[in-house]
Amino acid sequence: MTEQSGSCVLVTGALGQIGTELVPALRQRHGIDSVIATDLREINDHSVVASGIFTVADVLDKNRLEELIISHSVDTIYHLAAILSATGEKNPELCERVNLGGLANVLELAKEHNLRLYTPSSIAVFGPDCPPLAPQETPLNPTTMYGMTKVAGEVMANYYWENHGVDVRGIRYPGLISWKAPPGGGTTDYAVEIFHHAVESGNYTCFVKPDTKLPMMYMDDAIRATLELMDAPIESLGTARAGYNIAGVSFTAEELSNAIVAKIPNFVCGFEPDIRQKYADSWPSMIDDTQAQNDWGWKPLFGLEQLVGEMLSNLQDEN
Ligand SMILES: NC(=O)c1ccc[n+]([C@@H]2O[C@H](COP(=O)([O-])OP(=O)(O)OC[C@H]3O[C@@H](n4cnc5c(N)ncnc54)[C@H](O)[C@@H]3O)[C@@H](O)[C@H]2O)c1
Repeated sequence: MTEQSGSCVLVTGALGQIGTELVPALRQRHGIDSVIATDLREINDHSVVASGIFTVADVLDKNRLEELIISHSVDTIYHLAAILSATGEKNPELCERVNLGGLANVLELAKEHNLRLYTPSSIAVFGPDCPPLAPQETPLNPTTMYGMTKVAGEVMANYYWENHGVDVRGIRYPGLISWKAPPGGGTTDYAVEIFHHAVESGNYTCFVKPDTKLPMMYMDDAIRATLELMDAPIESLGTARAGYNIAGVSFTAEELSNAIVAKIPNFVCGFEPDIRQKYADSWPSMIDDTQAQNDWGWKPLFGLEQLVGEMLSNLQDEN
């Protein structure tokens, strides 16, 4: 079912790295008054999300979410609120509570109010036993609490689809690279921080080893993937509906640094791995997205060179 122009959308975690870009894209589709952006944090007036409706809402407060769903006649939720991998390992109890408790609330509300639901998964569902080219279907044995909540989230989403007919969809995002909002405490944050440091100071100390290769994606591709998945006819979606693998571009930290040096010759990148190396090492380096290609026609547009060019020119314009 393609979203109707009259539909009203609620976004949780709207002030994060993805919400900052997904909310404007949704407002463009549905109209400025038909997207209710929410977050636990208060909004800053300079945020792009401030151009339309915004209200504070904790995803652990089911009554508050229900109040918003009823008062705005919401028919679709984009559930972005979560605690990411690195922050989640510092506070696993919070990660479990927010990621699973928040999802349980939106799934129940989707069932009770007949809503469509988008809830992202992550490449963090994979563990060290996953082949380097991660298949859609493979044993999921993550070693981080964040990864465990994402595996459980996919299982919960499938349960609501199979038992209650809730049209819930999700993508296993790779590390997302964007310039409009800072990343929210994930293991792939180095691939964003490196650009800010390259433009502002000309040097960066990367927290993973030079040969660490992870699946990444430019945010424009991720937003387009999200909207395309939500637009796909329901009958085209298969067993991966709650966690489609999608590939963007895979590169090592050193290849990223070299691509920046090609544009900023004086840029210097050092490497001092910290605990996040361990999380990175537990993930695959590439993603097999054949099922997303077949089911809803997924195709990335941004390779490493385009992504580096976009990031640097946008950040240089801002400075
Ligand atoms: N950014 C990535 O690289 C990436 C990769 C894979 C998956 N994802 C997934 O995409 C989703 C969004 O990620 P993001 O990068 O925008 O994260 P982010 O950390 O940038 O943003 C998450 C937002 O959720 C809010 N939040 C936290 N606890 C909340 C609560 N109890 N109630 C309401 N809001 C709360 C935070 O204030 C924050 O604004 C998450 O599910 C994440 O796991 C992101």
